[in-house]
Amino acid sequence: MTDRTALVCGAGLMGHGIAQVLAGAGYQVRLYEPEQSRAEAGRDRIAGNLQRSVDKGRITADERTEQLSRLSVETDLARAATGIEVAIEAVFEDEAVKRDLFALLDASAPAEAILASNTSSISITRLATSTRPERRPRVVGVHFFSPVPVMPLIELIRGAETSDETEAAIRALAGDVGKQVIVSRDRPGFIVNRILMPFLGEAMRAYDEGLGTAEDIDAGAKLGLNHPMGPLELADFIGLDVCLHIMEVLHEGFGVQHFAPPPVLRQLVDAGHLGQKSGRGFHTYPRS
Ligand code: CAA
Repeated sequence: MTDRTALVCGAGLMGHGIAQVLAGAGYQVRLYEPEQSRAEAGRDRIAGNLQRSVDKGRITADERTEQLSRLSVETDLARAATGIEVAIEAVFEDEAVKRDLFALLDASAPAEAILASNTSSISITRLATSTRPERRPRVVGVHFFSPVPVMPLIELIRGAETSDETEAAIRALAGDVGKQVIVSRDRPGFIVNRILMPFLGEAMRAYDEGLGTAEDIDAGAKLGLNHPMGPLELADFIGLDVCLHIMEVLHEGFGVQHFAPPPVLRQLVDAGHLGQKSGRGFHTYPRS
């Protein structure tokens, strides 16, 4: 990486974490949200995370100040994209929203800038078509995992036109932020969600048919399989609306019943029970 100025679009769960790890790796990071209050909320979250790292003795107070000084919040996308080397979008998982954003980024970012999407399931090849043909070799999927500062993986998705140079640049960025790369072809759900979602879906169906309590299903995976979280609490952690969307993409993409979202998941989402973020999903939060 030459310039090391990165733009992160979206300051939510994934965006703030991506901005944090980039700032921690020495990048000048612009954190974009159209609303100032949301952009500042993202920065405040990063400041809070870094304070916990100071309290645990992992970084010094000066390092926290230095990392925060590399982070600016932006509400004007055209200005935020000026002179960047890479943009990573982590906005709402809606293809139309992401396409609009990519078109705007394409118009404002330098010709050599890489436009990356943190999408968990939307086709990179299709997203790339919202940019001009000469940009498409520089469009790529860069899928982080939550919590971003903790999870050591980046899933790199090559669209039909993604170049080897772009893959190499993203591998370098992953090295900078201390993450390991796996490369996936551009298929629904890529590698990780292709594996994960049927597992979560089966746990939901088992719960729905009364096979065991939510606590016992989760304990089964934690104690019997050594998973850090059970499948129902992991679904709550990811967000049940997010899980539903990914399962719909997989189901539509492959046309196989095995990927169909379980009715209980739809019911919870319809009722506004989205998991941890809404206080209720398969479990209630905060957990006792
Ligand atoms: N942000 C930053 N750091 C966090 C964090 C967060 N939200 N949550 C936990 N951490 C850190 C803690 O500060 C702690 O750090 P230290 O080691 O420096 O003290 C460390 O993680 C461990 O945390 P805790 O001791 O509090 O809790 P834990 O041991 O139970 O771990 C967990 C929490 C890391 C979330 C663990 O339960 C876990 O790994 N769960 C599975 C997460 C997972 O599978 N994520 C992928 C989801 S799929 C996805 O993201 C992609 C998609 O497309 C759906």
